[in-house]
Amino acid sequence: MVSDVMTSNDSLDLPADIVATLVDPKAYADHRLHDAYTWLRKNNPLGIARSDRHDPFWVVTKHADIQSVSRQNSLFLNEDKSVTLVSKRFDELVRGISGTSSLTRSLVRMDAPDHPKYRALTQGWFMPANLRKFEERIRETARASVAKMMASGGRCDFVNDVALHYPLHVIMQILGVPEQDEPRMLKLTQEAFGPEDPDTARAKEAALTSEKLSEAVMRVVNDFGAYFAPITADRRANPRDDLASVIANGKIDGEFLPERETTSYYIIVATAGHDTTSSSTAGAIWALAEDPAEFAKVKANPELIPGLVDEAIRWTTPVKHFMRTAAADTELGGRKISKGDWLMMCYASGNRDEEVFEDPFSFRCDRKPNRHVAFGYGAHLCIGQYLAKMEMRILFEELLPRLKSLSLDGDPKLTQATFVNGPKKLPIRYELN
Ligand code: HEM
Repeated sequence: MVSDVMTSNDSLDLPADIVATLVDPKAYADHRLHDAYTWLRKNNPLGIARSDRHDPFWVVTKHADIQSVSRQNSLFLNEDKSVTLVSKRFDELVRGISGTSSLTRSLVRMDAPDHPKYRALTQGWFMPANLRKFEERIRETARASVAKMMASGGRCDFVNDVALHYPLHVIMQILGVPEQDEPRMLKLTQEAFGPEDPDTARAKEAALTSEKLSEAVMRVVNDFGAYFAPITADRRANPRDDLASVIANGKIDGEFLPERETTSYYIIVATAGHDTTSSSTAGAIWALAEDPAEFAKVKANPELIPGLVDEAIRWTTPVKHFMRTAAADTELGGRKISKGDWLMMCYASGNRDEEVFEDPFSFRCDRKPNRHVAFGYGAHLCIGQYLAKMEMRILFEELLPRLKSLSLDGDPKLTQATFVNGPKKLPIRYELN
C-alpha cells in the first residue's frame, strides 16, 4: 500500500481532476495531459494518485526523481507489479492467467539476476558498431519511403503514408520477418500497444472492459507466439545474419530460452522498435511544419539533423510512462516511500521540466545539451536507442533536402493511449525543391 506518511508538509493526495486526466487515454490525445504535468511539477511533483479503478500510485514528474528511481534498479523493481498502468481488475485477470504481473516476460518485465543475462544476449547487436552494417539497407528503405511520399503530389498524411511503415519495415528486416507479413505485424503491434484506442480493431470488439481487454491482449500474445515459433525452429536449423537468429540461438546458463521468454523477446523487439520510432519521426515533421524558421534552420544546416532527431524524441516522448515497485522503505524527493509502493515515472513530464530544459515547450533542433529521459535511464535504458536515432537520421537526410516548404494541411490527431502514444494523423502540404 502507498504510505500515508510524508516527510514534507505538502499535501500528499493529488486532486481528483488531475488523477482523472492521468488515467484517461483520451487526455493523452490533447493538451490536457501536459497541463496536468505542468501543474504537478509546480504544485506537487511527487504525490499520490488515488482512483477507484487502480491501485494507488506515486506520480513522479521531475526529471531528477525519474532518474533517481531508474538508477536504483534493485530498489525500484520491474517484476513485482505491472510496469505499465493497469486497472485492478486487469491486474487480477492477468495474475489469474499467468500467475505473474504480466502476460509476457520480456526485458522490461525482468529484474536482476535474469535481466542482465537476457539483455546481454542482444546488447552488442544493438550497438552502433554492429548497426553500421545495416546503414545502407536502411537508407534504401528510407529512399523508398521518400519516393512514395513524393508520389503523393504535395499533400499527404505523413503518419499513414510514411512514418508508420518506414520503422516497421526496418525492424522487420532486421528481425528477419518477410515483407509480406508486415501488415500482420503492424496490426499486432498496434493492438499490443494501443488497446485503449478506439481505432484499433480488437479494442472496438472488446468494448474496453478489463475482461475483454485481457483476453484481447492474450490473443495478441498468442498470435505473436504462433507466428514466431516456426521462425525460431528455422533459425536454429539455419542461422542467418538477423536478430531472430540471435534470439532463437541465445542461451542462458547453457539452455535455450524457455518458450514464453523467447516469444516475449520477439514481441518486445517488434513492438518497442516500431510505434515509438514512428511517433517520434512524425513528431519531428509536425514540429517543422508548424515552425518555418526551425525548418529553414535545419535545411540550411544539415549537421543539425542529429539534434533534430533528439529534439523530436524529447518533444514527442512517445513512451509516456513506465511503473516501478519499491522493494524496501525509502525516501524520494522528500517523500517517504514504503515497500510495495507503485510509482509512475512520467517521462513526458521529465522532458518538459523547466529546471532542466530552457523553454521546454518550444522545439529547437539546436538544443544543447538535450538530456531527455524519453529512452528511460539506468539498467533498462532503451536498448534500441541507437537504432531508433539512426533510422530517423537517415530518413531526414533523405527527405529534408527534397523539400522546399512544409506546412500543416489540417489538424493533426494523437492516439488515445496512456502508455505509448503519438501522432496518428498528420496532414501536411509540401513543395519540392
Ligand atoms: C524513439 C524510439 C524509442 C523510444 C522513445 C523508446 C523508449 C523506451 C523506454 C522509455 C524504455 C524503458 C527504459 C527504462 O525503463 O529505463 C525502452 C526500453 C526498451 N526498448 Fe525502446 N524506445 C524506442 C525505440 C526502440 C527500438 C527501435 C527498439 C528495438 C528494436 C527498442 C527496444 C527496447 C527494448 C528491448 C527495451 C527494454 C530494455 C530493458 O528493459 O532492458 N526501443 N524503450
